[in-house]
Amino acid sequence: MLAYLHIPFCDSKCPYCAFNSYENKHALKKAYMYAITQQLRFELEHFQVSQQSIHSLFIGGGTPSTIEASLYAPFFEILMPYLCKDAEITSEANPHSATKQWLEGMYALGVNRLSFGVQSFDAQKLRFLGRNHTREIAINAISLASTIGFKNLSLDLMYGTSLDTLKRLKEDLSIAASLPINHLSAYALTLEESTPFFNRTNLTNDSERMAKQFVQAIIQAGFPQYEISNFGSYESVHNKGYWKGENYLGIGSGAVGFLNNRRFYPTKELESYTKNPLSQSTETLSEEELHAEKIFLGLRSCVGIALSHFTPKEQVKVNVLLKEKKLTCKENRVYNRNYFISDEIALYLSLP
Ligand SMILES: C[S@@+](CC[C@H](N)C(=O)[O-])C[C@H]1O[C@@H](n2cnc3c(N)ncnc32)[C@H](O)[C@@H]1O
Ligand code: SF4
Repeated sequence: MLAYLHIPFCDSKCPYCAFNSYENKHALKKAYMYAITQQLRFELEHFQVSQQSIHSLFIGGGTPSTIEASLYAPFFEILMPYLCKDAEITSEANPHSATKQWLEGMYALGVNRLSFGVQSFDAQKLRFLGRNHTREIAINAISLASTIGFKNLSLDLMYGTSLDTLKRLKEDLSIAASLPINHLSAYALTLEESTPFFNRTNLTNDSERMAKQFVQAIIQAGFPQYEISNFGSYESVHNKGYWKGENYLGIGSGAVGFLNNRRFYPTKELESYTKNPLSQSTETLSEEELHAEKIFLGLRSCVGIALSHFTPKEQVKVNVLLKEKKLTCKENRVYNRNYFISDEIALYLSLP
């Protein structure tokens, strides 16, 4: 079992970002942090969670570092008995709000992994992406986290913007690789609906060649790829749990929970969530949807797919792909060799 906590606050809203987060609702922070404790109590019963059975908590956003560490304490107090002793406890953070006080406070609460939203170390690219930190702020925040004692550190880089050249991407990578991190995520800029970037031209660079060269450079820099966008000598327990189809609690406004064949959606609207954190909508997934999702996630990551999962029709196609060396098979599991074509393979397998 996994747990996800969503923090829908940011210091400023980036023009490309469609995540449920607000830059102008800081007055609701205290009420929100109380509301998540109410929902957590409810979900622990609802999911019938046993003690010491949650092996990963991920605090995402939004920007978790916009909430002072002490406000997380009541949430941790309730969750602690349900966490395994060696649970991975990750929080996302923005370089500019991950202060010494916040880092020390989160470390004291038991957070043992941080994922920093860096995107780039290049001043021009940071401006283009509307980010409010500098190269120095990012480097200092990550170094400080390491000094405080965080062993597992990750950072996010963004590629596929119109400013990118391979040289520029490699410069970002070389700074990243010089920092005390053991994990890196690289995301291609997506122009999301209802964001200022949507429908604007000349913002992206869709060069597949450059994307592939960047991925190769990341691997060569010592970060093995274990999913389409994730790299590192440390493989996140949380990420892998999602790709394996494990159940997860989803706490917070805009979070998603998953139990067997149902997804739960607490309201995205912040005011109504703080007033009534237990109200949520439910979606029931069909056998076919669950089947397709397992294939989709398995092909995009190192998790792979059990041979026995495929229908006889799919197995015929899997055999073709194995012969063509597009897939490999080890101990009765099938693995994709090239994550860039995972969607095409999933589509091919789903065709009648
Ligand atoms: C939800 S954000 C949280 C991290 C933190 N708030 C930050 O941005 O620094 C997680 C990551 O998603 C990625 N992301 C968000 N919107 C994106 C988009 N439109 N295209 C590509 N990546 C995106 C960014 O790399 C970001 O670091
Ligand atoms: S990318 Fe991160 S900091 Fe920017 S608006 Fe989205 S969640 Fe907030």
